[in-house]
Amino acid sequence: MKGNTASLPEIKEALDMVHALIGEDLADVDARLAMDLPSEFSVVPEVAHHLIGAGGKRIRPILVCLTARALRASKNSFLELAAVVEMVHTATLFHDDVIDESKMRRSRPAAHIVYGAPVAILVGDRLYSDAFRRLLDVHPRQLAKDLAKAIKLVLEGEIFQLQRRGTTGLTFDQYLRLVGGKTAALFRFATLGAARSAGASATQVRAASRFGWNLGIAFQMADDIIDFEAESETGKTRLADLEDKKVALPLLVALRRDPKLLESVNEYMAVEKGSEDRLALRSEILRRIEATDAAAASRLLATRYADRAIEAIDELPNSPYADALRRIARYVCDRNS
Ligand code: IPE
Ligand code: IPE
Ligand code: MG
Ligand code: MG
Repeated sequence: MKGNTASLPEIKEALDMVHALIGEDLADVDARLAMDLPSEFSVVPEVAHHLIGAGGKRIRPILVCLTARALRASKNSFLELAAVVEMVHTATLFHDDVIDESKMRRSRPAAHIVYGAPVAILVGDRLYSDAFRRLLDVHPRQLAKDLAKAIKLVLEGEIFQLQRRGTTGLTFDQYLRLVGGKTAALFRFATLGAARSAGASATQVRAASRFGWNLGIAFQMADDIIDFEAESETGKTRLADLEDKKVALPLLVALRRDPKLLESVNEYMAVEKGSEDRLALRSEILRRIEATDAAAASRLLATRYADRAIEAIDELPNSPYADALRRIARYVCDRNS
């Protein structure tokens, strides 16, 4: 089924399969995540809970558990790691919503809207520090070094994006560097860490790491497509990326196919928010992106990275867990939230 994306029933089937296989692991991870961050200030656990308790897909813990089990890890060697990865992810969301001035996250008002940006930033920092403490309680220093490297890449991906904000001349290589940093680095840490915690061979650790990286790229590409396609279940508005002066994948593809579109996009970014000109320009841009069929081309690109991820899984031993990882790689490309 190479090159195809999953249909909606297939997505549901993939998620059911994941829950049948590792439902208990995930409940355990959730219990670890629900533990209050110990603090003399009640606002710390309260704000953390605002985001962690709102759910989310938990894709990174799912990847940790499935990869570890595919490599025959003992049960308690990876559960704390799965919680730690989700904590780091949560920290990046606290910060990302401040940076992007996003109003909603996981169908709730973003933490900085409810509690203010200073608290949202500090609780994000607190999650980073707790994540390292908890990781080092049960895992060797090497894993903390891997995590530090992943976080460095995430932050530099965000910085690179900030520097590119408002400029339209992004190359595909620069786009890859950007999504590699802001999203794939943490996916790679999840699967690499899982492989290490399972005591896998160097070849398997490399395969797990390649899997996470390519899946992370596909995942972020899908996120970019969701931004373009519709009001999604996440409560995000259409073309929020453009509103933030970010060039997401569908626009990047459209600009290649219709170079004159650049003029309208530049104009859009320069015109004041809320003005009538801007609304008209927005409709024009949407229409012209649609005319280039950029969403379909973007999905095809995402599928290509998912295929690479699947090739890496083929280097792991065959098991229902490896099968579930393959299904997730399909689901990632076709998800709508
Ligand atoms: C959102 O991540 C940020 C990106 C890297 C695109 P998710 O889509 O995994 O968010 P949740 O955890 O499900 O809310
Ligand atoms: C999220 O990037 C990446 C990180 C949180 C580091 P985006 O800004 O593209 O993701 P959303 O759309 O806010 O979830
Ligand atoms: Mg954002
Ligand atoms: Mg962002």
